[in-house]
Amino acid sequence: MLFAVTNRLPASAVAMLREAGKVRSDERETAIPRPDLLALVAGADAVLTLLGDRVDAELLEAAGPQLRCVANVAVGYDNVDVEACRRRGVVVTNTPGVLVDATADLAFALLLGVTRRVREGDALLRDRTPWTWSMSFMLGTGLQGRRLGVVGYGRIGQAVARRALAFGMSVAYTARHEVTEPGAPPAERLPLGELLATSGVVSLHCPLTPETRHLLDRDALRSMRPDAFLVNTSRGPVVDEAALAEALREGWIAGAGLDVFEHEPAVHPGLLDAPNVLLTPHLGSATHETREAMGMLCVEALRAVLLEGQTPPNAVA
Ligand code: DGY
Repeated sequence: MLFAVTNRLPASAVAMLREAGKVRSDERETAIPRPDLLALVAGADAVLTLLGDRVDAELLEAAGPQLRCVANVAVGYDNVDVEACRRRGVVVTNTPGVLVDATADLAFALLLGVTRRVREGDALLRDRTPWTWSMSFMLGTGLQGRRLGVVGYGRIGQAVARRALAFGMSVAYTARHEVTEPGAPPAERLPLGELLATSGVVSLHCPLTPETRHLLDRDALRSMRPDAFLVNTSRGPVVDEAALAEALREGWIAGAGLDVFEHEPAVHPGLLDAPNVLLTPHLGSATHETREAMGMLCVEALRAVLLEGQTPPNAVA
């Protein structure tokens, strides 16, 4: 059994994979170039991919007919052509559940950081700018009594909502279906337009699909309140980044906290220059515990498919 792994995995996951077969992995920290990726997967029975690895007909062809499973080490799988995999009988799995709290924590860190101007304060001190406490010095925006508008009320959106409720915010969400499951935090379901127009903070938690690409376009950003903040920990292309840079420059909205970018790893220069934006480099699931759990979930999925002939619960195709 040959496992192709496109990046460095936590040691526990590698050890478990090695018990089941031979591991061929790419150990560099940077993204694997396409020709190297295609060479790496050749002859593999299963492939572990990252969200930057495009899994399409070309890659499946390069792997060969023995390929049975693609385990994507992310909950989002917009990098995978699921239909192409299905046509070849290749099972695709993702990593739901294990990164909920880590991602919600980071969304909330961005939310707090941008509303309370943490980055600006830190920069001011590091620049050795003279300052003095005064009644009007570096004022931010309080959260209590404001509405959090959650776009996509799945597990991560709900986890962010729970945090918002604990901070005294009210919560509304927009989703294709009413969320009625027991344990879901109480929230009003609103159409996107109303949610954008009435929320003090809008946080994005929807997958990237053809329908959600540029969901937050120029018009949507224009419809937000001028004192509102946008937080994105989902996928960059859900937001039209050029329009967002304009929105921040022109004051259509008050600020943004962004962990994901439209053309990752590039960031729109207008965002890099904006003082009212807090940026992190796709760190949503980046904790030791979560990455370990993501790695293990992928390995368990591969073992289920290849050794036990089962379809794991986290199969998406
Ligand atoms: C995901 O899982 O989709 C995140 O973007 C990376 O953890």
